[in-house]
Amino acid sequence: MEDLWASLDRTQGVGRGIEHILRRAIRAGTLGLDAVLPSSRALAHELGVARGTVSAAYEQLAAEGYLTIRQGAPVRVGWTPGRNTPSAAPRAPDRPRFDLRPGLPSGSSFPRTLWARASRLVLAHAPDEAFGYGDPQGQLPLRTALAGYLARARGVEAGPDDVLVCGGFTQALRLACQVLVARGGRTVVVEDPCSERYPALIESAGLRVASVRCDRDGLCVDELPPADAVLVTPAHQYPLGVSLSPARRSALVAWARATGALIVEDDYDGEFRYDRQPVGALQQLDPDRVLYTGTASKTLAPGLRLGWLSLPTSLRRELIEAKENVDRSAGVLDQLTLAALLDSGGFDRHVRRMRVTYRKRRAALLRTLGGLDVRIEGIAAGLHALVHLPQGGPTERDVLDRAVARGMALGGLSDYLRKPAEEQAIIVGYGTPPEHAYRPAMAELAKVLSL
Ligand SMILES: Cc1ncc(COP(=O)(O)O)c(C=O)c1O
Repeated sequence: MEDLWASLDRTQGVGRGIEHILRRAIRAGTLGLDAVLPSSRALAHELGVARGTVSAAYEQLAAEGYLTIRQGAPVRVGWTPGRNTPSAAPRAPDRPRFDLRPGLPSGSSFPRTLWARASRLVLAHAPDEAFGYGDPQGQLPLRTALAGYLARARGVEAGPDDVLVCGGFTQALRLACQVLVARGGRTVVVEDPCSERYPALIESAGLRVASVRCDRDGLCVDELPPADAVLVTPAHQYPLGVSLSPARRSALVAWARATGALIVEDDYDGEFRYDRQPVGALQQLDPDRVLYTGTASKTLAPGLRLGWLSLPTSLRRELIEAKENVDRSAGVLDQLTLAALLDSGGFDRHVRRMRVTYRKRRAALLRTLGGLDVRIEGIAAGLHALVHLPQGGPTERDVLDRAVARGMALGGLSDYLRKPAEEQAIIVGYGTPPEHAYRPAMAELAKVLSL
């Protein structure tokens, strides 16, 4: 057990470090069900911290279901990963033969010619000032083009002055957290499940993370605790793939109005809906309560590091200042190139083309899974699908192991869960493989799932 604490990270506070280590160890099965933990007094002594710090960490983990605390009895591990231990599973190689990890668009489909043309145009005509520091809020031509695009494609209510260009969603969230902290904010709610990356980012900004579960209608809004902000993926919950129901959308905005909390809307793949017109952004229900964020990471490429957010009036000045303090501005030439791409209609054409590509890929995935004993959840959208494994069948861990043995990389639901659950599901990202490799990848997936 001493070895466990060797990697204790104190930078975010010892309590958080303890929680992190124990969560990992329990999820990985290193600390099994009923394992006895040191008393809070003993551990506090060993780590040289206050006993209350350890007790608070234990209580947090008990609330999450990882530990059981009983009066007069030692603290014990209260949950076992059982069949569900993907974090202990061998990791896929960095360059898998079949890359079906969720999260990435098709790199081979990047519109190189369109981008090169737009970039040449920008270089030929940009004024000398374009090579100086840019406007921290973003270049006006891009903000203007984005305001038009976001209004027509996502129903976002924002003029050029209400848009801030940033380094992807990741930076948008960072800026929002910074502003919340400066205003004395303490807690941000995230969806459970969600990408592990964002709660970690929120905590590293000095905020506490609480989580609320999602069901088939998205975030369970009536379970929201008091908080300063909530981070949601209303168009396409990541990774469950469901959308926030109309009733929950209204309830969420009503909750934010009643409590004064901010909603951070992560619209990471809102452009990609295959069975109907995309449902518009939540932001339009209350532009002053909802900070909308969008990104070029799915429509174009994550390597561009370009994203945007809508500025609620009350946070406008602070968000722009935060952006200026972080890195002065997003890269000016790339901003102008994206503006030219939007103005020429090339961006819309590219998105339309990719929508067709991804819709076909999703259909091929459904065909592949059709004859197997699995269930797909979620709407026809985005670049990934959640595939539930049958009860009593192969576990998530089994499937991920088999996939790794065949040179395939997949996602597993348990990597995204905040609280332990027995659900067995894998996540298939269908964006990444180049066109010629997709069919073989599907054939291999069928083998992985049917063995
Ligand atoms: C849930 C979610 N939101 C947003 C993003 C995009 O982040 P960024 O714009 O920083 O690349 C991703 C990327 O994979 C994601 O999974």
